[in-house]
Amino acid sequence: MKNYGNIVGWGKFIPEKSLTNEDFEAYLDTSDEWIYARTGIRVRHVVNQEEQTSQMAADAAKEALRMAGLRGHDLDLIILATSSPDYLTPPISSQVQHALGAKKTAAFTLVTGCTGFIYALATAQQFISTGAYKRILVIGAELISRWLDYNDRSTCILFGDGAGAVILEATEKQSGVMSFVLGSDGSKAEHLILPGGGSKHPPSHEMLENNLHYLKMNGNEVFRFATRILGSSLREAIREAGLEPEDIDLFIPHQANQRIIDSAARQAGLPPEKVFINIENYGNTSAASIPIALCEALESGRAKIGDTLAFVAFGAGLTWAAAVVKIIEREEQPRKSIWKLPILRWFS
Ligand code: COA
Repeated sequence: MKNYGNIVGWGKFIPEKSLTNEDFEAYLDTSDEWIYARTGIRVRHVVNQEEQTSQMAADAAKEALRMAGLRGHDLDLIILATSSPDYLTPPISSQVQHALGAKKTAAFTLVTGCTGFIYALATAQQFISTGAYKRILVIGAELISRWLDYNDRSTCILFGDGAGAVILEATEKQSGVMSFVLGSDGSKAEHLILPGGGSKHPPSHEMLENNLHYLKMNGNEVFRFATRILGSSLREAIREAGLEPEDIDLFIPHQANQRIIDSAARQAGLPPEKVFINIENYGNTSAASIPIALCEALESGRAKIGDTLAFVAFGAGLTWAAAVVKIIEREEQPRKSIWKLPILRWFS
């Protein structure tokens, strides 16, 4: 009997502070018209000095756990997709595991840029289908604002911070990740790169003087890559799931650029009314963009239990990823444990 990983809980965290296109107009040679027409973005949210990636990830995960009626120690594995951790080491996944009270739960961090959430979902599905694990928390969390040069108008206007999380639970009913397509082309790495801080350009005065601690992007090249790869990956994922484009109830793409999303949907034969877009309010939140959009789609009723969803993303690497995911009714709620009584939680 095959095991599937049905999504039984979801949550998100969006920082309160926001940056509007008008905020950029006030000091940069740019305009609301240019930004909105070229990207579809009007607002993005950014953390304050006290907030960290691990806190955003933990807050999104706590919401997902609450919704699923689970606690940290019910989890068998945590996979955290991010390119913007609190530290190079220790792994942020262990920080979040501790914050959730998920004592001794296995945890690892997965770094594939903006495709991280789909890569993590596909990875989680493997652990579930082999029967190794039953409940897996998958998080996409990013705090790109700390690595942006706010004088570089071609990158700083694009990105926002945030986190989203889902919980996959094993079931024998067909659900969860029905198919996935993953890919990578390292020959194009320099088009989206944070050169400083790693082993090639470790922290130094020289690194800072040369601004190597900021994200660098060749927007045109990334745009061309995305419009070439997304439509075909999406079509392949739908075909692999044994479905036709008409069978997809909602397409939830990585929110990087409205024009890129439109092109992917068109190439995959998905009509605009089946595309979920929230880029206007958040910008590109990298690995967090799909789980945040998924939460909003489910909260607003655009996506429902029983729906078949399609995800697609591209990002640093350069990488790409697509998946078809089905969410079904949960078989049974977890048993109400006496350990959930507040007085007894302290002892558990
Ligand atoms: N405001 C006004 N003008 C801007 C600008 C801004 N914020 N940013 C760039 N420009 C200028 C450029 O300097 C250029 O001026 P020039 O012609 O005088 O040299 C002009 O606008 C056109 O630049 P171009 O890069 O060709 O614009 P574009 O239509 O490709 O849009 C991006 C730029 C960055 C919006 C677009 O390339 C893009 O979204 N690429 C994908 C990036 C992405 O998704 N990255 C994340 C990957 S996960």
